[in-house]
Amino acid sequence: MQFNFLISKCMSVNENGMTILNGTPQRNPCLDEVITTMGEASAKAQNLKQVITSPSRFYQTDQKLYIKSEGKQCLGILKIGKKNLFHRDLSGLIKEIQPLCVLDFYVHESVQRRGIGKELFEEMLRCENIMPEKIAYDRPSPKLLGFLKKHYHLSNYIPQNNNFVIFSQYFENRQQNGNQKLASQTSYYQNTVTPQKMEQLGSLMQQMTISSTKPKNQSQQQIKSQAPWGTDQKSQSNMYQTTTGLMSAQIQKKI
Ligand code: ACO
Repeated sequence: MQFNFLISKCMSVNENGMTILNGTPQRNPCLDEVITTMGEASAKAQNLKQVITSPSRFYQTDQKLYIKSEGKQCLGILKIGKKNLFHRDLSGLIKEIQPLCVLDFYVHESVQRRGIGKELFEEMLRCENIMPEKIAYDRPSPKLLGFLKKHYHLSNYIPQNNNFVIFSQYFENRQQNGNQKLASQTSYYQNTVTPQKMEQLGSLMQQMTISSTKPKNQSQQQIKSQAPWGTDQKSQSNMYQTTTGLMSAQIQKKI
């Protein structure tokens, strides 16, 4: 994506053409233009009705934006952020997790399939000190699924109604490593909800809100009767739409 200014004039770019922005950068019109233009192009490429990445949806959040550029060209963006998610496994066990998520990922059409996506992704993995299987992917496109399969051999996951993809290795590694810190961030509880009860509970969900700032023992009782859904970890606001019952809790993205 060509701009009529050097990208390095509006943001600091390292020797690899990489910029890492948190939600509180020094704003300037050129930076806003880059974020706006790339965000719109990403939404278009994914056929999304709503733009996920824009200055107003990025500034003052705890999200991070990785930008790859070259001179006056912005080649790609990758946006990440933490979310509270509920994940149901095949046995019906629901787990509450707070993974880092890939929220938006876009490489300009003119340079796709040339390794730019991998460069951006690897930069993010390095800076966040995280493995690809420890990340959740928000509504990944077929291209992103192909990308993850090709570069990281990630393909097994249980579809969730919140449309986040969490690969099976996310949980396997956690158990193998016995990672205390991660385990302590996760609430495990038996899902007593049968598929037959889903519709019934769907309406129940609409009346519920949750705040993860509550002490665990308080929120535990509330969580038991809730379905997989996600909330923006920063605002903690609970935004979902019920579609076809409990497991169809579709969490509206709060970017
Ligand atoms: N069709 C199928 N697979 C593709 C395509 C495509 N058009 N483009 C990239 N891939 C996958 C393939 O596995 C490809 O390997 P191959 O060429 O050997 O088949 C691999 O990605 C290439 O890797 P990179 O060159 O490093 O990736 P790229 O620079 O193309 O970036 C990305 C990948 C970001 C997915 C890019 O294709 C893109 O922007 N697509 C359009 C927007 C999009 O779908 N973004 C993901 C949205 S979901 C989310 O953000 C959570």
